Amino acid sequence: MGFERELTPKIGSILVAALSLLFPAVICAVKLEPLVIDEQLLWVSGVDGEVDTYRVPVITFTPTGSLLAFAEGRKSSSSDIGAKFIAMRRSTDKGSTWSPTSFIVDDGLVSDGLNLGAVVVDQEVGSVILVYAVCFHQYICNPASTMMVESKDDGLSWSLPRNLSVQLGVKNFAPGPGSGIQKRYEPNQGRLVVCGHGTLEGDGVFCILSDDHGHTWFNGAALKSIPYNQKKKPLDFNPDECQPFEMPDGSIVINVRNQNNYHCRCRVVVRSWDGGMSLPIDDLYFDYELVDPAVAAGAFQKEGLLYFTNPSNAQKRINLTLRWSETNGLSWEKNALQIWPGASGYSCITSLDSGSADDRKHIFVIYEKGHKDYDETISFAKIHLYAGH
Ligand SMILES: *[C@@H]1O[C@H](CO)[C@@H](O)[C@H](O)[C@H]1NC(C)=O
Ligand SMILES: *[C@@H]1O[C@H](CO)[C@@H](O)[C@H](O)[C@H]1NC(C)=O
Repeated sequence: MGFERELTPKIGSILVAALSLLFPAVICAVKLEPLVIDEQLLWVSGVDGEVDTYRVPVITFTPTGSLLAFAEGRKSSSSDIGAKFIAMRRSTDKGSTWSPTSFIVDDGLVSDGLNLGAVVVDQEVGSVILVYAVCFHQYICNPASTMMVESKDDGLSWSLPRNLSVQLGVKNFAPGPGSGIQKRYEPNQGRLVVCGHGTLEGDGVFCILSDDHGHTWFNGAALKSIPYNQKKKPLDFNPDECQPFEMPDGSIVINVRNQNNYHCRCRVVVRSWDGGMSLPIDDLYFDYELVDPAVAAGAFQKEGLLYFTNPSNAQKRINLTLRWSETNGLSWEKNALQIWPGASGYSCITSLDSGSADDRKHIFVIYEKGHKDYDETISFAKIHLYAGH
């Protein structure tokens, strides 16, 4: 695996040194002991007249430290196809209290609807960009388009939708779901990277890139399914929904849904060394430890540690679990944190990178949660990483 040229030992020891200076109490045992210290349901399906089902949660911090949570508000059924809102709630106290829901995008009633989507934060100009698809399923409307809305005031107000297909060309592209990234390190420091997947036949992982804060976008890496543009059979190679994150060495790792269970019922991992322009097969591997029922999962890098959330079960969407890796994903710690044993689906992770002691010890997870079905609610969990100390 190409991953062995990693910086693990170096980052590990820098981290230990930095942490021991900052909070000596924690460092005597660097081991994480994560615990859910607060959990709230942000959306409940079927209780308000305008929305039948909430699905596909996405979460991010803004440059000024507010939390923004998004979800699809599916107006009349739980189906992926159909008219929807993009629902948003905002918290300015790190998730203790939340604004009421606002619908920041409405795709109208007569359409096969929008699909979320990836949120990307531009730290350099202080904007938040949400990229989503319309007509992705081409059930009623045509063609599929890649759309974007932007907030320049911390999520309080949003621009009108802009059609990125004018620049990118017309193509079925479903961003995320989850977060995009702004590259913090070279190569291509400052670049916005949003990755997603194609149609079921023309599936694969595709990334779109912007080097000017989202004004212009161009097509980057493609990792195509096999056979490409043909109907798939069970066990075909079919990389699908995906979550990228940047490593401290400037490479981009993408954790991918293995739609047709090719090779394993587990996650596919790919990596770009050139700022999202290519995803070489040489660096693709299957992470057998990350057993997965084919779902959109959360993946995040914070201070040299990797975090991963999914319904950790080979067959069913149950058992929402947080895993972490101190070895850049070569292995995962055995003592995983079960967040919810029952029905659970898509998830997304965020954390604030301010350097403050409080922000260093928390991550935040949003996920689909239910008793019978995973689309009953969308839940927000605040996780303390060193709860035992
Ligand atoms: C977006 O732009 C493409 C290319 O110009 C066009 O074909 C498509 O109809 C547009 N979509 C929307 C929703 O305006
Ligand atoms: C839940 O996930 C953990 C960690 O992956 C695993 O050990 C356990 O077997 C899972 N339980 C079920 C019921 O899937």
